[in-house]
Amino acid sequence: MEQVLVLDFGGQYNQLIARRVRELNVYCEVKPYNTPVSEIRAISPIGIIFTGGPNSVYDPASPQVDPEIFALGIPILGICYGCQLIAHHLGGKVVPATSASAREYGKTETVYDTSCALFKGLPAAGISWMSHGDYMEKVPDGFLLTAHSQGCPNVAIADEARGFYGVQFHPEVNHTENGTKMLRNFLYGVCHASGDWTMEDYCKTAISQIREKVGAGRVLLALSGGVDSSVAAALLAEAVGSQLTCVFVDHGLMRKDEGDEVEHAFEKWNLNFIRVNAEERFLSRLAGMTEPEHKRKIIGEEFIRVFEEEGRKIGKVHFLAQGTIYPDVIESGLGNAATIKSHHNVGGLPDTVDFKEIIEPLRMLFKDEVRQLGRELGLPDYLVLRQPFPGPGLAIRVIGEVTKAKLDILREADFVFRDELKKEGADASLSQYFAVLTGMRSVGVMGDGRTYDYTLALRAVNTSDFMTADWARIPYEVLDRISVRIVNEVGSINRIVYDITSKPPSTIEWE
Ligand code: XMP
Repeated sequence: MEQVLVLDFGGQYNQLIARRVRELNVYCEVKPYNTPVSEIRAISPIGIIFTGGPNSVYDPASPQVDPEIFALGIPILGICYGCQLIAHHLGGKVVPATSASAREYGKTETVYDTSCALFKGLPAAGISWMSHGDYMEKVPDGFLLTAHSQGCPNVAIADEARGFYGVQFHPEVNHTENGTKMLRNFLYGVCHASGDWTMEDYCKTAISQIREKVGAGRVLLALSGGVDSSVAAALLAEAVGSQLTCVFVDHGLMRKDEGDEVEHAFEKWNLNFIRVNAEERFLSRLAGMTEPEHKRKIIGEEFIRVFEEEGRKIGKVHFLAQGTIYPDVIESGLGNAATIKSHHNVGGLPDTVDFKEIIEPLRMLFKDEVRQLGRELGLPDYLVLRQPFPGPGLAIRVIGEVTKAKLDILREADFVFRDELKKEGADASLSQYFAVLTGMRSVGVMGDGRTYDYTLALRAVNTSDFMTADWARIPYEVLDRISVRIVNEVGSINRIVYDITSKPPSTIEWE
């Protein structure tokens, strides 16, 4: 399979570049900027993309490439820092931009030379997304200037004979008009890609690879019901059927009907599906616990314990499967983000399960691709399109102490919220939405009587990375319908508030 290599210089859009390339049906992988040339040669990519990055190429401490890369005869596209890197290495000069010259941020009207392969067939002008503080003062010999903006004469450079292209802007972000078409031009016009990356092919290949690897061995997978572990389970079930055992721990903290939905989705495969009803043990361990991090820790520990007990019953397996996906693998690890919340994800490694090897069948896929693969395997939309759901489940959406009664109230209210959004067709455009049972009670009036009941909070956000998020502007009329329905149908709730804080300063979950 043909492949494009994305060399990562620490820019914020690196994963996005790789996703765009794959969306254009060309397989690509992200590797660190200092990947040795010998390794690149062995991969033999049809093209290389240098990403952006926060450094300045003239800084001696900045990440550089081995200049030999320019002698491989492989086309290169440099984006932002990557463009400056090409200039820097091939005899140009990059200097700090002064405001008078070309420091540019944001949407910028740009003029393109459409005779350049990168801009072929595209409009001669359009908006591009800039984010650079350095400036290519001298363009390297052999390169032509192929785009400019009002503030900057050197927006794009090209040495078409060698297949080297550089752009100061970010073609991978949506703000750049025709950015995807520029990437397509690079892949198909310059690198001569054939576009052999399709999910149907990937699915077939993955199945035969799993069969080969697993042989007659046994595989164990902890199924959480989330998208990743469900798709991993489906893929393994398709590949090795009855050699697969899935342990689905129902901790009683799931949303309404969710446990049954998950079980139902796997009925069509001949696998060993073990659903452990562990609601009581989770709730008894959570009794009296009010602190969010305590609750998370208890749930994480208890999950491992249940899984270990099941593992002991199952005995020796050859493989432990996990739903790790590509963004987990390439998370750059630059900087040391403070721990705001400990995210205990389902699927730790229990000591008592005796296995030979870990198998991660989704390791090379982005989230969208995981969903596509799930569809390809015939998983229902309610699983494949599921929004992210925290491992500790509704326990962190019942503020303070968790009880079965509170969970049941929350489940019903959350169901109504989701049901109304679905009816509106609004659910698909939201990144995450849920209800929170605040511990607060307040006075209300129903009929002729005074009530003293819970306040429910509704939360809906849009985000691309879940690191930052904006609260969703759900129309008032829809919120009104939701509010009326919840109060009428659920009971024990007499006040509903809508959370209008973004992240930061808030987080998405309330705990
Ligand atoms: P926050 O609340 O940190 O959430 O803004 C960001 C994303 O992470 C999810 N989340 C969790 N996921 N275990 C998980 O597996 C957790 O303990 C946890 N806490 C938050 C949250 O739903 C959102 O998608």
